[in-house]
Parts: sequence; structure tokens; C-alpha cells
Amino acid sequence: MPHVAENFIPLDEVPIAETWEGMEACLDAGLTRHIGVSNFSVKKLRKLLQTARHRPEMNQVEMHPLLAQNKLVTFCKAEKIHVTAYTPLGRPASPDLPPNAPHLLSYAVVTGIAELHDCTPAQVVLAWAMERDTAPIPKSVTPKRLKENLDSQIVQLTADDMAQLNSLDRHYRYVDGTFWTPSGGPYTLANLWDENEG
Ligand SMILES: NC(=O)c1ccc[n+]([C@@H]2O[C@H](COP(=O)([O-])OP(=O)(O)OC[C@H]3O[C@@H](n4cnc5c(N)ncnc54)[C@H](OP(=O)(O)O)[C@@H]3O)[C@@H](O)[C@H]2O)c1
Repeated sequence: MPHVAENFIPLDEVPIAETWEGMEACLDAGLTRHIGVSNFSVKKLRKLLQTARHRPEMNQVEMHPLLAQNKLVTFCKAEKIHVTAYTPLGRPASPDLPPNAPHLLSYAVVTGIAELHDCTPAQVVLAWAMERDTAPIPKSVTPKRLKENLDSQIVQLTADDMAQLNSLDRHYRYVDGTFWTPSGGPYTLANLWDENEG
């Protein structure tokens, strides 16, 4: 990923459709079996679908109970595009986060449901993602946590659990996009996320 403004390529220089054509060519040539996108809004997906020969199989976006992205999930389901949920645990203990960042795994709703199901808070938010038919990708370098996260597949949340977790949605981004929008670069937070335009 580029770090300085002049290394970011503006979309009017290389439009997304052109990049996608290159990815489609890789698929056609058998160089890859699956192609998808990341951080695409409904607006960007709609535009891509106008010209795509092969539809994106997956859209990987930040998603957890504080950023449920219901509209995007509904759109992707209708278009048969799978959704991968990154940062599904809310990056607990990350030194990169501002001190006032919400600690998802400590929310009373999350810890309360964990107690009810005799599981961990991490397993609750991963089960929430899977119950919505999205694919959470928690990162861990700790073997015990890797197993814990995999075991979240056996947690069965109730409709009431889901409603409580859904009520936490506050459109909070842990990955706010500022490192993609250095001053003098072609991207702004508005044109990066473009959530109010589609
Ligand atoms: N496409 C994109 O633009 C994009 C952007 C950001 C992230 N991602 C991807 O999303 C994946 C995960 O996101 P992320 O790393 O930002 O956030 P995350 O998975 O929500 O959080 C990772 C942190 O959670 C800890 N952790 C893991 N399992 C835990 C558990 N069961 N209980 C408590 N803590 C636990 C990890 O610590 P330990 O490792 O010490 O166990 C690590 O510090 C990564 O593969 C990343 O590459 C994609």
C-alpha cells in the first residue's frame, strides 16, 4: 500500500473498471479462481456491475456490531456477492487506536450474551457475523485464540441476542480510512467511503 500522497493513483487516471478488466483477464487465464473487491460501497458496486463481465464474488469490508452496514449487506445479498467482515472483533488492545475508541468486547450486551451462552465475547461477535451470513476474518497470532475463534461456529445466538447486538450499531469505523487519504492525495474520506451517495 502506498504511504505518500504522490504514490496513490487517482481513479480518473486508472478507473476501477479498467483494474477490474485486468482482474477478469487473470480469471479467464486461470491465474486465479476467484476475484473480489474490498471496501466497496453500494455506489461503487453498482458502477462496477454496469461493466463487469465477471461479477465480484466477495466484498471485504469492516463489519462488527458497531458497524453493521445493513444496507450494504442487503445489497450484496440481492446481488449474490458474499460479504467478508474484517476487523470483526474491533481490534481489541490495538496500539493504533485512539484512546477513546470503543472496546467492543467489553460492551455489557456482548459480555452478557457471552455469559448466557458460556462462551467468550469474541465468540459472540463472530457468531453475530455468521448468523448474518457474512464471513468474519478475525486475526490472531495466539493459538488459544485461533481455536477459540474457530469454535465460535458452534455458538447459536437467539433472535433476542441478535436484536440486542443489532442495537449496538453506531456506524463506528476502527479503520477510519485516514491512512488512505494523506494530504495532497487524490482520495478523501467522502470519496473513499461514498456512503451517502448510493
Ligand atoms: N481489506 C481491508 O481494507 C482490511 C482492513 C483492515 C483489516 N483487514 C483484515 O482483517 C483481518 C482482521 O482485522 P484486524 O486485525 O483489523 O482486527 P480484529 O481481527 O478485529 O482484531 C485483531 C486483534 O484481536 C486480538 N484477538 C484475536 N482473537 C481474539 C480473541 N478471541 N479474544 C481477544 N482478542 C483477540 C488479536 O490479538 P492476538 O493476535 O495477539 O491474538 C489482535 O490484536 C486481518 O486479516 C486484516 O488483514 C482488512
